[in-house]
Amino acid sequence: MDLLTELESLIPELAKGLDQASSLQDLEALRVDFLGRKGRIARIMARLPELGPEERPRLGQAANSVKERLTQLFDERKTALVAAAEAASLARFDAGLPGRLPWRGSKHPITLVTEEICSVFRQLGYEVVSGPEVETEYYNFEALNIPPDHPARDMQDTLYVSDGIVLRTHTSPMQARVMLARKPPVAVIAPGRVYRRDSDITHTPMFHQVEGLLVDSHVTMADLRGTLTAFTRAVFGSDTRVRFRPSFFPFTEPSAEVDISCCMCGGKGHDGGATCRVCKGTGWLEILGCGMVDPEVFKAVGYDPEQVSGFAFGMGMERIAMLKYGIGDLRMFFENDVRFLGQFAGRFA
Ligand code: DAH
Repeated sequence: MDLLTELESLIPELAKGLDQASSLQDLEALRVDFLGRKGRIARIMARLPELGPEERPRLGQAANSVKERLTQLFDERKTALVAAAEAASLARFDAGLPGRLPWRGSKHPITLVTEEICSVFRQLGYEVVSGPEVETEYYNFEALNIPPDHPARDMQDTLYVSDGIVLRTHTSPMQARVMLARKPPVAVIAPGRVYRRDSDITHTPMFHQVEGLLVDSHVTMADLRGTLTAFTRAVFGSDTRVRFRPSFFPFTEPSAEVDISCCMCGGKGHDGGATCRVCKGTGWLEILGCGMVDPEVFKAVGYDPEQVSGFAFGMGMERIAMLKYGIGDLRMFFENDVRFLGQFAGRFA
């Protein structure tokens, strides 16, 4: 076969090869075989010296037009193969499948209970206030009838910033701050961070409290009971029972601790057979401290205890959140694991 015939026979040969090619890889292999640097055309052209000088330009021209034709055949086949692959992947595409949901942010459970508690008290006519976390010993202790040698100062393992300056150990200093700044009647709620030198499984050096204070003429312990009963029912459910136990705080007299019927076992102390692990079988859960504002506190802020009376209460937010949402471990609030936090998505107070 002469070189020209050999050259032209490449066209039907490639056409046959392309018909059988079923992937882009097959196509590439063919391209290398026919058009590559050491491919068939190149090998035929390498034999150009075998021809006489007058035949060489003809073969050169023929090689160019064969190359052109081969490239055209490749392109056509490639376009067809790409189109077929796209059609196949579209056939697998199911527009009815559920899409990927975007991540939704959530409020921290402490934020949620704080907002809920504030909203309940706003509806009762209270104003939400806030104050400094770096506090003077005066507001944190003295003004609250806790003198320097009082055992309550040991009780509340205090973090000192400098002489006379502490990280507040409770939100109660807000009682004194508000009363010093305002005239009665006063109805405020003060949420915020508090600090104690305490760190173990059930204590963190920083946690959250909410303080409440109502001062007016003729405020009685019955008002305190009514207010806290309404509050606990709003937060824990309308069939929650409330119990007041006598207690002691330097800034209230009389003082009480408030228990609610256990929200886990409904106050039965067991869930059918096993002892309730939340209330340890007692049926009750302590949730806050409260009392009637001590006359000494009124005197410290310039209120006349003969003219006004009032009540105060304080509670820990982590504890309320644990009970309300059934959270078993205090540390979860501070680890910020999104698997934990994500469970509160979509909840709004
Ligand atoms: N400040 C107290 C504490 O941190 C809680 C408390 C008890 C606040 C009685 C009050 C109250 O306002 O009347 O343990």
